[in-house]
Amino acid sequence: MKILGVSGSLRAASYNTALLRAAQELAPEGVSIEIFGLHDLPLFNEDVEALGDPAPVTAWKQAIAAADGLLIACPEYNGGVTGVLKNAIDWASRGSPSVLAGKTVCIVGASPGVTGTVRAQDSLRQSLRKCSAEYWPLSEMLVGQAHTKIIDGVLAESSRAYMGRHLQAFVDHLRRAA
Ligand SMILES: Cc1cc2nc3c(=O)[nH]c(=O)nc-3n(C[C@H](O)[C@H](O)[C@H](O)COP(=O)(O)O)c2cc1C
Repeated sequence: MKILGVSGSLRAASYNTALLRAAQELAPEGVSIEIFGLHDLPLFNEDVEALGDPAPVTAWKQAIAAADGLLIACPEYNGGVTGVLKNAIDWASRGSPSVLAGKTVCIVGASPGVTGTVRAQDSLRQSLRKCSAEYWPLSEMLVGQAHTKIIDGVLAESSRAYMGRHLQAFVDHLRRAA
């Protein structure tokens, strides 16, 4: 089973990207998690799209299409999804059908605040619904006060257990649905 991990942060020391790295280490037997970096995606522009998808966009869409499920690490900026992540969703939403249609998505998120990206995750679910993606219904992993739980890019033991359970339940869900 192949899961595609995507972080909505480009920051080298991103807490959200750290969640994905922990997920890679905790992947259940028979599951691989590849992280797709969004650094090279241009800003969405219909004029650019009309000339044909730029190579990074093609790579992004192909990576989604090839995955059995998506694991999105969703940071929160100003109560919503980061521009980086929303831009990536907007590119992926294009095409008939969109590569996101019917794709099952698990959402996780970390922030130094106490609410741990709950607002951004809700906003992301709204966008995914519009793209006909299926977010996993139990999918809510909120890592609040991330600066106390992710030190030097490493997730603390208690949160690793949380991630391990969350990931296992997602994989069980994907296997049942397959
Ligand atoms: C423009 C901006 C807006 C932010 N707004 C929020 C917010 O609404 N809620 C929140 O919990 N954190 C907010 N933060 C703090 C981020 O959660 C924090 O920078 C976090 O580390 C970003 O995720 P990353 O570590 O994966 O890069 C904001 C940060 C920036 C730069």
